[in-house]
Parts: sequence; structure tokens; C-alpha cells
Amino acid sequence: MVTLHVNGKARQADVPPDTPLLWTLRDVLGLTGTKYGCGMALCGACTVHVDGQPVRSCITPISAVGQAKITTIEAIGEDRVGKAVQAAWVEVGVPQCGYCQPGQIMSATALLKRTPKPTDADINTAMSGNICRCGTYTRIRAAIHRAAS
Ligand code: FES
Ligand code: FES
Repeated sequence: MVTLHVNGKARQADVPPDTPLLWTLRDVLGLTGTKYGCGMALCGACTVHVDGQPVRSCITPISAVGQAKITTIEAIGEDRVGKAVQAAWVEVGVPQCGYCQPGQIMSATALLKRTPKPTDADINTAMSGNICRCGTYTRIRAAIHRAAS
């Protein structure tokens, strides 16, 4: 039995230590907001925060997480910056199909926490690992600038 600290709560999971964090969150803890895209750290759909850093949960075994604080899309709105990002996403109307968007919001929030006024270049660099098949990149950039303001 492993204890994980997820969204401010201690959660128990009866899984082998090499289980990816993504599957533990989705299949064991029922937090299905975090999405499976590629499973190979290539798309960013599975992005969560581990001690505030954006992490690809599909390739992160729970043994590597330890006592770190995990935040998922379900709780990012409780964070001041995350709340501003979500509001900007709605105001700009970013999503199309929506599948990639939890990961986009987690990466955008992490960016704004370390760089409150990012340039377009900062945004391009920080968001380059988050793929959107619907091509919402222009709206994502606009929403990040809006949240920053
Ligand atoms: S599912 Fe993790 S990066 Fe694609
Ligand atoms: S909104 Fe459809 S994949 Fe990004």
C-alpha cells in the first residue's frame, strides 16, 4: 500500500511501485481529468504538478513521487494562478475537442507561477511539449497572456 499526497489529501493506493502515476490517479483514485495520450512523454495530455513542477505522469512511477505534493486538474482551480488560467480559458474559449486541455492548463499554470509575465517566446518554450490535435495554440497563447494580465 502506497500513500500519495494528492490535491491536499493523503490517498492510499494498492499498486506496485513501478505503476505510472497516471494510471494510479485515473484507475485507482478515480481522478480521470488527467488524460492518457501517448504514454511516452510526447504529448503532455497527462501533465500534473509534483511539488509545483509540471510532470508527465504517464512515465512517472509512483515510487519516484514519494511524499511530494501532487496537484491534478481537479484541484488546480483552488490555486490563485490556476483559477486565473481556467477563467482565461473560458473567456477566450480555448478548447475545441478538449482532450488535451487539462494538460495544457497544468503546463500554463506552472509557467505563470515561475514567469508571471511571459513573452510569446516563453510561452512557446514552456508549452512546446503539449500537443493539441485541434490546433488551439493561438487561443492558448492568448489565454495565457490574459491570465497573466
Ligand atoms: S500521455 Fe503522457 S505525455 Fe502523452
Ligand atoms: S482541443 Fe482537441 S486536442 Fe486540443
